[in-house]
Amino acid sequence: MFTIAMIGQKGGGGKTTTGTGLSAVEAVRADLAALVIDLDPQANAANWKDRREADNPAVVAAPASRLRPTLEAARQHGAQFVVIDTPAKSDSAALDAARVADLVLIPVWPQIYHLETLPAMKDLLRIAGDVPAYVVLNALPPQATRQADEAKSMIAEIYGLPACPVHLCDRTIYADAPALGKGPQEVDPYGKAADELARLYTFVIQHSKGIPHG
Ligand SMILES: Nc1ncnc2c1ncn2[C@@H]1O[C@H](COP(=O)(O)OP(=O)(O)O)[C@@H](O)[C@H]1O
Ligand SMILES: [Mg+2]
Repeated sequence: MFTIAMIGQKGGGGKTTTGTGLSAVEAVRADLAALVIDLDPQANAANWKDRREADNPAVVAAPASRLRPTLEAARQHGAQFVVIDTPAKSDSAALDAARVADLVLIPVWPQIYHLETLPAMKDLLRIAGDVPAYVVLNALPPQATRQADEAKSMIAEIYGLPACPVHLCDRTIYADAPALGKGPQEVDPYGKAADELARLYTFVIQHSKGIPHG
């Protein structure tokens, strides 16, 4: 079982969008039994699942205090790809999730109010045992290739955190698809968001051991 924690101090960075998009589309497309564990009391991922027709991924809402037993139940039920979605402004839930994860993703917008939260994320990751972690730049202007490269270098140089080589651009389909309980790739399988999420999945799955790359 491969477990990814989506964490970040700021609301709106894209934890739920990236987490459901990764699991809903790509892991399921790769024929994996996927699960989202929604630790956020706002329950965006669980509500997304209520609007969704497809069975996979399963989504369970749980308090952070129930994370370990929930993961154990997932393992026993044969879950292969697990995304833990966490609330903003909750270091304890983020820490709980990072501690049990194989990989941590920190989606942020390329803006100072988001970037200046990264030192606290770095401290949190150290406490969690320095689990592999990447900052995922989200909502970049689609044409801003140079800005993306600069932001990735800055994250590595100034904040000392690895930046995921794949970033996501600002596209309305990321905001529209969840209203239908879908991932962007299910709405437009050949669109640019689908391509971004497929590349992000390919990057992410490299950190798993023994899970098919799809
Ligand atoms: N790449 C993107 N392009 C356009 N809208 C986005 C993108 N990523 C996220 N959003 C929108 O931004 C808002 C916050 O994203 P969300 O995933 O809920 O963040 P978080 O879970 O970190 O609070 C949502 O309304 C979502 O639809
Ligand atoms: Mg969220």
